[in-house]
Amino acid sequence: MSIRDDFPIFKNQIRNNPITYLDSAASTQKPKIVIEAIKNFYENSYENVHRGMNSLSISATDHFERARENLREFINAKSFNEIIFTSGATDSINILANALANKFKDGGEIVVSELEHHSNYLPWLKICDKSNLKLKIVPIDENGAIDEKKIIENCNADTKVLAITHMSNTTGQIIDLNFIKKNISADTLIAVDGCQSIAHCDIDVQKMNCDFFSFSSHKIYGPSGVGVLYGKESLLNDLEPSNVGGGMINQVNSHDFSYAMLPNKFEAGTPPIEAVVGFSAAIDYVKSVDFKSFFAKEKKLRSDLIDALKDTSNVEIYGSDSSLNASSIVSFNLIGHNYNDIATFLDQYGIMIRGGHHCCQPFMKKLDIPGSCRASFGIYNDTDDVDIFIDSLKKTIKLLQ
Ligand SMILES: Cc1ncc(COP(=O)(O)O)c(C=O)c1O
Repeated sequence: MSIRDDFPIFKNQIRNNPITYLDSAASTQKPKIVIEAIKNFYENSYENVHRGMNSLSISATDHFERARENLREFINAKSFNEIIFTSGATDSINILANALANKFKDGGEIVVSELEHHSNYLPWLKICDKSNLKLKIVPIDENGAIDEKKIIENCNADTKVLAITHMSNTTGQIIDLNFIKKNISADTLIAVDGCQSIAHCDIDVQKMNCDFFSFSSHKIYGPSGVGVLYGKESLLNDLEPSNVGGGMINQVNSHDFSYAMLPNKFEAGTPPIEAVVGFSAAIDYVKSVDFKSFFAKEKKLRSDLIDALKDTSNVEIYGSDSSLNASSIVSFNLIGHNYNDIATFLDQYGIMIRGGHHCCQPFMKKLDIPGSCRASFGIYNDTDDVDIFIDSLKKTIKLLQ
């Protein structure tokens, strides 16, 4: 039995080829255990959570809150009050940016980088447009890499928030957050976009000493529609949620209301209950297969793929310097060919990659390209996938000549 056998989707074929899945940075496939957990929950325990006193609601609430504790333990948060369930990383970052805009009404700077996914760029851009806050953007270099020292240089006494990705979804670069933390003001809040790193790095929010950490379940073998906003308890207590509604109040009177305690204060409305249950099952799954042992393998797959691409003529690879700390993701273009054409040709061989701007238009604009091909690995990939990919890419290049 291989890890691949845990994922039912790989029983299928595409155009009579086994599936070579190289698009985990977009979303990961789901192991049977996750699919079964959701099915089992629907069949045996489904009800709305928190407010009901009936058996099903109590059971559903128990599943839901145990999932919160599972997530807390997974990222080593101090308290389960620090785990806010959201609809995904985008939602987490929007909730956070809006709350921080309110906290920093008097102004100051928000620092982001050119490496950011739009989800960790637009919420900050938007609050800066609407407030006294100023957005500062740390540039990447001509090959698409960012230097931590540049990030540090761009932070100063006015920097209220450094909103930074932990791992680029375009190049796979992993940012040394500890180094940054040690070299910027202790008053600057660090809001980490951990959407990619959650599946490829050992996340310990206390060791990282970040203030906020956002991620999505679907990037780590769980269902879509759910994510987490982690925040230090004292900070979350101090922030005001932008979303209001059912489930997040203590008292409501005709003309005023008071908030519930954490974490409910930030969870207005019915949460994605069954997705939370599936998310927790995904965490159980990755722990059961010792997924941290795959981190080195994923880095090696990335460097093997880059080496093989370098042997292919007319290929331009971004963030490919071997000194870069990076994992799992490779972005490249075949000079003279459109990335979408390459992705479509590779699909003929059962290979799933992504062509496009990967929601990183500032990155693409800096490199003066409209987009790229992106191949990305997950725990079900091995060197065979690299071989199949390179072989099919060479056939594609021949066909396009
Ligand atoms: C680095 C990064 N940040 C944020 C997001 C947004 O995640 P979601 O679409 O799950 O909200 C993604 C998704 O691709 C990502 O890769």
